Amino acid sequence: MKGIILAGGTGSRMYPLTKVTNKHLLPVYDKPMICYPLEMLINAGITEIMIVSGRGHAGHFLELLGSGAEYGVHITYEIQEAAGGIAQALGLAEGWVDEEAVVVILGDNIFQDSIKDDVAAFSGGAKIFLKPISDPHRFGVAELHDNRVVSIEEKPKEPKSDLAVTGLYMYDNHVFETIKSLKPSGRGELEITDVNNDYVRRGEMQYSVLDGHWSDAGTFDSLLRASLLVQKLRKADKSE
Ligand code: G1P
Repeated sequence: MKGIILAGGTGSRMYPLTKVTNKHLLPVYDKPMICYPLEMLINAGITEIMIVSGRGHAGHFLELLGSGAEYGVHITYEIQEAAGGIAQALGLAEGWVDEEAVVVILGDNIFQDSIKDDVAAFSGGAKIFLKPISDPHRFGVAELHDNRVVSIEEKPKEPKSDLAVTGLYMYDNHVFETIKSLKPSGRGELEITDVNNDYVRRGEMQYSVLDGHWSDAGTFDSLLRASLLVQKLRKADKSE
C-alpha cells in the first residue's frame, strides 16, 4: 500500500498565520503539523509516501522532509495548481500510485490511534475511520444501519449521527475511476465525501470507530486544541 498526505488548500481560514508559511507547517505543540500524519503512515509500515500540496510555500515541505531518508522512507512531491478539492488532489497521484491501494490522510488531521493492523488487513474496496464527537456538523457525518455505512453527508445542518468521518481513508485502485466520474460540488470542488458515497452505493465501504483521540487543526481553535492534545499525550507517555 502507498501513502498520500493531502496538504493542499490556501489556508485562508488561518490568515495571517498562513501569510508566509503553509498551514501544514504551523506548529502543533513541538512539531510542524505535517509530521503527525507522516509519522502515522510510517508507523503503519508505509514506505512510499506522496505529499500533495498547493503552490504556496511548497518548497518548504522539501526543506523540512527532503527525500524521507531521515525517516527511512521515500517521499515524493506533487503540486495541486488550484484549490479544486481533496478528491481532485488525490486524483493527481494516479500515475504514481500505479496499480496499488492507497491510504490517504489529510495533512491537518492528528490521530492517536495506530492503523498498522488496518493497513495489513486491507483487501479492497474502501475504509473510513469514524469518531463520535459533540459537533459533527463541522465534518462529513456517517449514518450507520445494521453495522453498515448507508450514507455520508458533508457538513450537514442536522447530522444523522454523532459520527464524524475523520480525514483518514483507505482505497483500492478503483478510486481513480470514481474521481473521474465526479462533478464539482456547490463550492466548486471535487469532494472526498462524494468519493466515499460511491463506495457506499457499490456496497464496498468498510468502517472502523477510532478509540484514541482525534483532532483536525485547520482552524485557530482546532489548532490550539490539537496542540493541547499532543501536549497531554506527551506528558502521559513520560509518566508511564
Ligand atoms: C474535510 C472533509 C470532511 C472531513 C474533514 C476531516 O473537511 O471534507 O468530510 O470530515 O475533512 O478533517 P474540510 O476540513 O476540508 O472542511
